Amino acid sequence: MNLEQLKQYEGEDASPYARAMIESFRSIGYNLSTAVADIIDNSIAAGAKNVWIDFAWKEENTSLVITDDGRGMKEKELVKAMRPGSKNPLLDRSQEDLGRFGLGLKTASFSQCRNLTVATKSKELNKIIYRCWDLNYVTAVNKWRILKYLSDQSLIARLKKLTTGTSIIWKDLDRIIDKSGESPEKAMNQFLERIESLKKHLSMVFHQYMENQKLTVWIKNRKIAPWDPYLKTEKATKVIAKAIINDIIEVVPYVLPLHSKINRQVFENASGVKGWNSHQGFYIYRNNRLLLAGDWLGMYKQEEHYKLARIFVNIPNTVDIDNIWQLDIKKSVATPPPEIKTQLKEIADKTRKEAVEVYRQIGERRQKSNSKNKVLVWTDKKSKGRRFYQINRSHPIIANFLSRYPSSKAKLNRLLRLIEETVPLPLIVSNETENNDFQTTPFEGKASSDMVKMVIELYESFIAEGKTRDEAVEEILRTDPFAHYPELIENI
Ligand SMILES: Nc1ncnc2c1ncn2[C@@H]1O[C@H](COP(=O)(O)OP(=O)(O)OP(=O)(O)O)[C@@H](O)[C@H]1O
Ligand SMILES: [Mg+2]
Repeated sequence: MNLEQLKQYEGEDASPYARAMIESFRSIGYNLSTAVADIIDNSIAAGAKNVWIDFAWKEENTSLVITDDGRGMKEKELVKAMRPGSKNPLLDRSQEDLGRFGLGLKTASFSQCRNLTVATKSKELNKIIYRCWDLNYVTAVNKWRILKYLSDQSLIARLKKLTTGTSIIWKDLDRIIDKSGESPEKAMNQFLERIESLKKHLSMVFHQYMENQKLTVWIKNRKIAPWDPYLKTEKATKVIAKAIINDIIEVVPYVLPLHSKINRQVFENASGVKGWNSHQGFYIYRNNRLLLAGDWLGMYKQEEHYKLARIFVNIPNTVDIDNIWQLDIKKSVATPPPEIKTQLKEIADKTRKEAVEVYRQIGERRQKSNSKNKVLVWTDKKSKGRRFYQINRSHPIIANFLSRYPSSKAKLNRLLRLIEETVPLPLIVSNETENNDFQTTPFEGKASSDMVKMVIELYESFIAEGKTRDEAVEEILRTDPFAHYPELIENI
């Protein structure tokens, strides 16, 4: 139906109730870290070089102020900025502008507090102006109304010292300050823990801006250091083939060094906020701002032996790209379209292969040095001109089992004999020669459950025998088939 036809029908007003709608703005799913990151996106868009996060713990009267030295806003701009949906998401924006929906300032703030004041100073006006959203007031009057209100001059002390800039002031922080009768000490500790997570989150999300000296973020006058997911300054970090997809998407696949090749502290720091295993995969940036930090985009599961693979992917922030990558309001989700996903998967395959190779190499080195006295599951024997294959009764797993159930020992031995005597040799030989490239390593693709249990049992039995950790690990690495999985054993 076209627009002209629709206009002929009777219409009725169905604008949202301020009271109900503004409360639902609170539930977009931000936490303190993602909310502050969204506020800093605006600072970057306003050309800020510095962002200061200040707070003073006063229990329920605690406030949090985010100040930038960007260009600030004139009065009309300020009023417009306070409006939910201040800009059309379909409009093109400058490259530095990380915004899209005209919502972030409001939704991120309301997710954490009930009172938001924006104070700003532009070159044109050269004085501080402010506006305030107060959720209690909106609820009482049931109107979308902002106030010319600032509760306390001390909250703009930082802004007063700047020539231009903006302060986002959060008061009545009901979502992060627990008033439910907890002891004030506990509430303060919880708050400080959240600040600690915030610090880590910002050093990750804006690491590119910080590394390139485009932005400095200060928490209570202390500068936050960038977190480099790729350990770019380590000599042992490898860059696999760089690529540019569709002329605009920059891809740099990294394989990080093994822990034995780097300093312990560097290794621990590289584990990031989620830990080594969860930080493998793609790192998706939108104009150098990190959206996703380690995710295989549904292509694979995260597995221990691929944890050294981290792939940088930077997309620009145009209307079309944001649309087809399905950017969300919080800027926490971006999904590549199918044809790009296929190309990314090829790159991921290559990178994962290289990442697992790092472990295979140490495995092989150890295997070589141990090959003389390696303990195999199967041994081959020759008797009366006939070759036959036997299960090694002194292989630790089998020996353990036999000694654990002495009453069934004879039965178990008969079972093993049965298997040995009926190995379908001719079938194996003919199948293997047909499919030369189909030889797999033992437990290929199943290293997760049965293998892990067996390794742990074996390890425990060696320790029970009085071996040290290192001796037990050496012993397991000599034992077939575990020698194929050094990364598993290293992690015991
Ligand atoms: N720190 C700031 N300095 C200058 N202008 C700002 C600042 N913060 C917000 N603004 C202005 O307010 C507008 C609204 O910000 P808001 O975060 O709500 O939406 P957005 O950034 O346009 O889009 P998104 O919803 O994707 O964040 C911005 O477009 C910008 O013009
Ligand atoms: Mg924004």
